[in-house]
Amino acid sequence: MRKVECIIKSGDCANALSEYPEDYFDLIVTSPPYADCREKTYGGIKPEEYVGWFLPKSEQFLRVLKPTGTFILNIKEKVVEGERHTYVIELILALRNQGWLWTEEFIWHKRNCHPGKWPNRFRDAWERCLQFNKTRKFHMYQQNVMVPMGKWAETRLKHLGKNDVVRFDSQVGSGFGKNISNWVGRDKAYPSNVLHLATETDNRSHSATFPRALPEWFIKLFTKEGDWVLDPFVGSGTTCEVAQKLGRNSVGIDVLQEYVDLARSKVAPVEMMLFEREATYDKNNAK
Ligand SMILES: C[S@@+](CC[C@H](N)C(=O)[O-])C[C@H]1O[C@@H](n2cnc3c(N)ncnc32)[C@H](O)[C@@H]1O
Repeated sequence: MRKVECIIKSGDCANALSEYPEDYFDLIVTSPPYADCREKTYGGIKPEEYVGWFLPKSEQFLRVLKPTGTFILNIKEKVVEGERHTYVIELILALRNQGWLWTEEFIWHKRNCHPGKWPNRFRDAWERCLQFNKTRKFHMYQQNVMVPMGKWAETRLKHLGKNDVVRFDSQVGSGFGKNISNWVGRDKAYPSNVLHLATETDNRSHSATFPRALPEWFIKLFTKEGDWVLDPFVGSGTTCEVAQKLGRNSVGIDVLQEYVDLARSKVAPVEMMLFEREATYDKNNAK
């Protein structure tokens, strides 16, 4: 018998997580309040105070994440007095001092970003999704996020040069080689670290929701069915809603009761979900 659990907790995430044992979660995927944003609702942390605000929380994240787990932090710095603020860069350095490895940075390109006009910059159409790990041996299921080869296959692979049909060592000294001819005849390829996802504008009673495809991509990449996913700033509950659909257990935490209630309404009815998943599981495991 397998069961998909989804628990939405109320309170400050550091306090709520102190009840959990260490090495419990396989993935943390989250978007905290950004500095200087949404003062009237749940945010308003000053950029210069942000690192001090965040570190007690990430200390708990570090404790409850498994050594094979991954922490994805969606965040972006604002412009303050004509310059990009450096608080995200300072946070990355502070997290490294706390014991995290800064393994990768994904870019979320907001495909449907609305146009705008500024005298000295273009519209901001991307956010960071920072990847942190506890060890270099984290679980990653790359085949789960493969994409169609597309036009690249029709054009580039039709005209292979002499360096494309042998293993050609990296020119940037990465130690990795590539043999482009290996991709001939395949219909899927691995994606890049740029995610082209539209923001979702459906009315979800929260001003800063994830597009569902964002947590979905990371949940597929870093977990398998039955694993545990945590969103410590769960807001409207998108991460837990998606985790549940993908057969992952999840915990979501929010400090505001109205969002806790909203998130709880997104993940019901759990019983129906459990019934469907068990049926699939039994069928797949039948001898
Ligand atoms: C950017 S929103 C998250 C939105 C979410 N990704 C979604 O799809 O709806 C950040 C959330 O963090 C919550 N929050 C702020 N401080 C918190 C804290 N100390 N502990 C837990 N949640 C907190 C806010 O109430 C807010 O709902």
